[in-house]
Amino acid sequence: MTDVPDPVARPGGVVVDVLAVRVPSYTRQVLDGSLGYDLPTPLVPGPTCVGRVRGVAEDVFGHQVGDLVLCNSLYSSGDAVGSPDEILIGWTGTGTPRSARMQAVWRHGSFAEQACYPASCLTTLPGGQEWKRTELLPFLASLAIADGGLRKGGLRGGQSVIVNGATGNLGGAGTMAALARGAARVIVTGRRESALSALAQLDPRVRPVVLTGDRARDTAALLAETDDGADLLLDVIGATPTTDPTLACVDALRLRGTAVLVGGVRHDLALPYQRIQRRQLTVTGSFMFDSRTALEVWELVRSGALDLSPVGAHVFGLDRFEAAMESAESLAGLDYAVLMPRW
Ligand SMILES: NC(=O)c1ccc[n+]([C@@H]2O[C@H](COP(=O)([O-])OP(=O)(O)OC[C@H]3O[C@@H](n4cnc5c(N)ncnc54)[C@H](OP(=O)(O)O)[C@@H]3O)[C@@H](O)[C@H]2O)c1
Repeated sequence: MTDVPDPVARPGGVVVDVLAVRVPSYTRQVLDGSLGYDLPTPLVPGPTCVGRVRGVAEDVFGHQVGDLVLCNSLYSSGDAVGSPDEILIGWTGTGTPRSARMQAVWRHGSFAEQACYPASCLTTLPGGQEWKRTELLPFLASLAIADGGLRKGGLRGGQSVIVNGATGNLGGAGTMAALARGAARVIVTGRRESALSALAQLDPRVRPVVLTGDRARDTAALLAETDDGADLLLDVIGATPTTDPTLACVDALRLRGTAVLVGGVRHDLALPYQRIQRRQLTVTGSFMFDSRTALEVWELVRSGALDLSPVGAHVFGLDRFEAAMESAESLAGLDYAVLMPRW
């Protein structure tokens, strides 16, 4: 930990006091380079956070000092022309020269007392000032990422959803979001049985399936929990050594089912061509979230339609960053590590 100059609100920017930020389970591997993230140095790292607006640039009109905001680290070059570059501020880029220019300007992230984000990355949380349990708010980011995937897959009430990697943080969030959005059945997969059991306590619609790593066996176990295959797969699994867990779930989709890939698998996926063609499956990706999704999950939480009380926040101050990373590595499902720089 070190002192750096306070950020200033550059044009188009908003400075926030960072209130709380999730420490992902794989933070150490991001920072030591083993995941190959595109990190310019020196850098204040840190992903999407919750903050309170401290100052705004003179050309920013949509945010006011004191607003409680979700600061999405996703920043896009804009898609007016061609395919945009999308960076995660303080986390990774895409490796292109334009991405490097974007990172040079919007460089630093949220593992700090203050941070500066482009105004377009911020979503104001209406009524957020009355929310007492700040340590639960970073879970909104996980909910928005997972819910963005469910939206991409066109989830409708009454459908069956497989959440692959449900024992992870995005998986716990995806399970809660699918329940709140009216899924009739949520089949949750993972290897940690205790974490799966905790998810099953949420609602009788949740059906746990312990993954064995054997594709055919896992598919059979998943199919046994559906009528004739699942409508939607939300794949939020981590960096698995093989793609078999994901493929087992694709094999368990019903006719015209959709697989949404959100997770951290680093290998190429050998897609079952004939099965996709004959069963008219859709395979798509989803990355981060937009402001509309963030607002929707916030309203679900604020109204009580999505109850955050089963979520367990393990809070650390900035001076205990190492302990926060260590804790994040071992926590599962609805338990997560939160850095609160002003704690
Ligand atoms: N698309 C996006 O916008 C986006 C945003 C953020 C993160 N991500 C990616 O999403 C992934 C999940 O994030 P997270 O924070 O939820 O991570 P996490 O908490 O570490 O969860 C990882 C999940 O993967 C499972 N898993 C890991 N290795 C496995 C293996 N060998 N076989 C079977 N299951 C395995 C874990 O299950 P068990 O522990 O039960 O084994 C757990 O359910 C990350 O890798 C990240 O890169 C994507």
